[in-house]
Amino acid sequence: MNEYILILDFGGQYKELISRMTRSLNVYSEIKPGKLTAAEVEKLAPTGIILTGGPNSVYADGAPQCDPAIFELGIPVLAICYGMQMMCHLLGGRVEACSVSEYGRIETTLVGDDSPLMRNIKPNNPKLLMSHTDQVCRLPQGFKSTAHTANCPNAACEDSRRNLYGVQFHPEVEHSDCGREVMRNFLYNICGATGRYSLDDYIEKHVKSIRETVGNKRVLLALSGGVDSSVCAALLSKAIGEQLTCIFVDHGLMRLNEGDSIENIFSKKELHFIRVNAADRFLRKLKGVKDPEQKRKIIGEEFIRVFEDESRKLGEIEFLAQGTIYPDIIESGGEFGDTIKSHHNVGGLPENHAFEGLVEPLSGLFKDEVRIIGRMLGLPAALVNRQPFPGPGLAIRVMGEVTKKKLDLLRRADAIVRQEIDRLRKKPQQYFAILTDVRSVGVKGDHRTYDYVVAVRSVNTTDFMTCEYTPLPHKILNKISMRIVGEIQQISRVVYDITGKPPATVEWE
Ligand code: XMP
Repeated sequence: MNEYILILDFGGQYKELISRMTRSLNVYSEIKPGKLTAAEVEKLAPTGIILTGGPNSVYADGAPQCDPAIFELGIPVLAICYGMQMMCHLLGGRVEACSVSEYGRIETTLVGDDSPLMRNIKPNNPKLLMSHTDQVCRLPQGFKSTAHTANCPNAACEDSRRNLYGVQFHPEVEHSDCGREVMRNFLYNICGATGRYSLDDYIEKHVKSIRETVGNKRVLLALSGGVDSSVCAALLSKAIGEQLTCIFVDHGLMRLNEGDSIENIFSKKELHFIRVNAADRFLRKLKGVKDPEQKRKIIGEEFIRVFEDESRKLGEIEFLAQGTIYPDIIESGGEFGDTIKSHHNVGGLPENHAFEGLVEPLSGLFKDEVRIIGRMLGLPAALVNRQPFPGPGLAIRVMGEVTKKKLDLLRRADAIVRQEIDRLRKKPQQYFAILTDVRSVGVKGDHRTYDYVVAVRSVNTTDFMTCEYTPLPHKILNKISMRIVGEIQQISRVVYDITGKPPATVEWE
């Protein structure tokens, strides 16, 4: 039996980080709904169980609860934040509102020298991420406290006889000094994992299973040039070669040379690669449209129309492939019942296609794992490490009406921004240029100019749901500004966006 950690979800915002952390420690994990019964859990036979945090108070109406019989299964449990409060509450402890809530990195004293969870953790007063307004004030029978802070007497607890462990802090986030070591102790000391999970044989295994599923039939893939669909294309091409057809709809809203480089990579592989140059078609539809939401809608719809037109020309193809990844499934509800956000891989595809089956060879992987597979498949670093790029492309970075002229200006300015920021040793997570709809007066040589203003956006983020602007060195900002106004005639001014999200968003439209 393969070892694996079952993560039961109670609405914790860091659940994906927990799963990524165990996998990076070579122990496979999956996230499932917190409402699984003990019998269902037992059937899955996990090596260990992790209960996530969550936004609720255990006493709130409708607060999620696990099946208390889970604690009787003899499977080691690590309960995090809300998970710890819920476990202690269900086992007879008491939870109360904190007199002082704890948010952020809090100095925590570890007292459990003989605790399997805290073993060999140095120093014994690490700063750990806390985010709670309730706390366990009385531990259940058989439990002892293994950590405390100035305001929280039970920052961690355990009943090592029953293999039940709770932590009020979040070991799964980078901001916790020794979180990784705590997780490692749980996996290896407590669950007895041996760390067999690795991606080394992922390609070999999936090539085999794709071949088994598909046989000698044909597969169609919509290739966007993003990381997921590109890695999916490379993996399928390795598995079934010419049985694969990839349609790359070039909407003319890509960055400088991006369409050509995608064509360059995939036209050399043994697959049928079709690039549809649909820029004129998209621009015609976008003519005169200024509203951002309308632009997004038009582009989404047109994408489907082009894909339908092209796939119709190909005749019947039995399988549809998609670059769906694990977070798409978690976020779209999938097996969770409640839909949080529908994942849009499925959304953009023709409904009237009678495909015999769906092939999603990356659906168990996180983005960082997909990138590893991409590298193993020999895809170029620029493609594998590609920053997130919105489906509507540069159309939502050109403010107001989208025209070919404005797109070309933005492409050149954006290339300069990326070249200069790429020189940094520690790069921000996303950086690009925006062509505003504002013109300003300038002077170039002896001439008065009245040209476009370009904005530079660069953000630091871990999840892209919130971000901070990057405090870029002035030297780099100055270089970007000098190059853009020097090299591009129709741009007279460069500004730097220093707004975080919230209240702004990453994209301008
Ligand atoms: P916002 O602007 O919502 O962006 O703060 C958050 C992240 O999502 C990307 N983004 C998109 N990605 N289709 C996508 O696939 C879209 O329509 C889209 N809009 C924004 C954005 O680049 C950032 O990384």
